[in-house]
Amino acid sequence: GIGGAVALGGGFGAYYLGAKRDTVGKVAFDAALSIPALARSQRGASGARVFTLGIQPGETRFKAGRATRTWGVNGTYLGPTIRARRGEPVEFVVHNGLDEETSLHWHGMHLPAVMDGGPHQTVAAGQSWTPRWTIDQPAATLWYHPHLHGSTAEHMYRGLAGLFIVDDEQVEPLNLPSEYGVDDVPMIVQDRAFDGDQQFAQREPLAGSLGVIGDEILVNGTIGPYFDVTTRLVRLRLLNGSPARLYHFGFSDDRRFSLIATDGGLLAAPWQTDRLYLSPGERAEIVVAFEPGERVELRSYPAAHGGVLGRLDGFDDRLDICQFRAAGSLSGDAAVPAVLGAAPDLAGEAVAQERSFVLASNQINGRSMAMDRIDFGVREGTVEVWEVTNDNGYLHNFHVHDVQFQVLTVDGGAPEPHLRGWKDTVLLVQGRRYRLAMRFRDHTDPNMPYMYHCHLLAHEDDGMMGQFVVLGAGEQVGVPPGQHRHP
Ligand code: C2O
Ligand code: CU
Repeated sequence: GIGGAVALGGGFGAYYLGAKRDTVGKVAFDAALSIPALARSQRGASGARVFTLGIQPGETRFKAGRATRTWGVNGTYLGPTIRARRGEPVEFVVHNGLDEETSLHWHGMHLPAVMDGGPHQTVAAGQSWTPRWTIDQPAATLWYHPHLHGSTAEHMYRGLAGLFIVDDEQVEPLNLPSEYGVDDVPMIVQDRAFDGDQQFAQREPLAGSLGVIGDEILVNGTIGPYFDVTTRLVRLRLLNGSPARLYHFGFSDDRRFSLIATDGGLLAAPWQTDRLYLSPGERAEIVVAFEPGERVELRSYPAAHGGVLGRLDGFDDRLDICQFRAAGSLSGDAAVPAVLGAAPDLAGEAVAQERSFVLASNQINGRSMAMDRIDFGVREGTVEVWEVTNDNGYLHNFHVHDVQFQVLTVDGGAPEPHLRGWKDTVLLVQGRRYRLAMRFRDHTDPNMPYMYHCHLLAHEDDGMMGQFVVLGAGEQVGVPPGQHRHP
């Protein structure tokens, strides 16, 4: 059996077949939240910080009874948290210990396309790959995951993913909670479906479907976790690492919290809210205040009908995710700084090129991803505005490699506060027009593309993806290596 996996598909507008799930009060919260280890590094001969990442198969015990066959990085499920500073040269020895090829992509990172770990940088079984670049972007919560064309969903579903935290000198004086695992807590939120053997249920994604939606929620690989709070303020670095599920985060007592950072880094100022949407691939840093001795649960609430999500009314689940247990006395400050970073500033820039992207039927602008076709080239140093629309009844989002973008407008109006910081992935509410401004900073190789795609993994694998290159002056769009131009 498929043990709780929901078969999706159906007609337009039907996101979700099967019963609405409500796990509130049914989650035991009897396991301490696992905190991914910080990746160790060594100073290499070139001065770069060198990390070794071994991708390997294994078994993980998520609950009593049988272990589940999983994949992990330097472990059996998920991978260590990588931390590096802006300005630092980094190098990775990525060893593939699986018996099939895979890749590791650095989601949200500005770096040369040949280091990006996308579908053109696969690592064969038993082989190693050694990407290196210099971190050149503000402090942010980024992440890494496989990105091989057609199998991204399966490789991530088995457990390959981890966080990549960038630090810089702008964020440090702010005195935000920053003790890793104590008051600065990574939370990789994923759903999984278990079969009768307690293995991850998998199914071929149906064309036009969302893929697997599981009914068990894992945080850092822990089902039903609790976290012991010892400080007045806790920063949560939330990542929606699920294949397709949308989360509408909030706390069980509807307390307000402060959104301080989105995909690409700090907001200009904290935004107080009691609910926050994250679609697959998106991150948010929030700061939550606690009182001594209290218990409160982080949940996902049904999508707002007719509200912010318009027609996305299939997401009716109410899910318990993690319980926070505050100690009898709490240390530290209770104030979140009123000013955080610099607001994205592309609105007044001269626009070199506008493009439009319509997502429908698992294609973008009526085309499916082709490894041998670079869809267009952009010019180094220029600002472009991409207008993106979800033109059918399924959930989609939009992710662009190499850059962080600014959401200029949504349907001509100002974006909601949670879309006012730097983003690399944005949820596309059906029918709305999103205008995204981005600056392409460095040309790389006219033959080596970056990707743009829907981050619902079944859609991406099905071809809802395209390729672009960043060109220097006078350069022309090339042909990806190992590919041949169509006659
Ligand atoms: Cu998270 Cu193209 O990737
Ligand atoms: Cu999609």
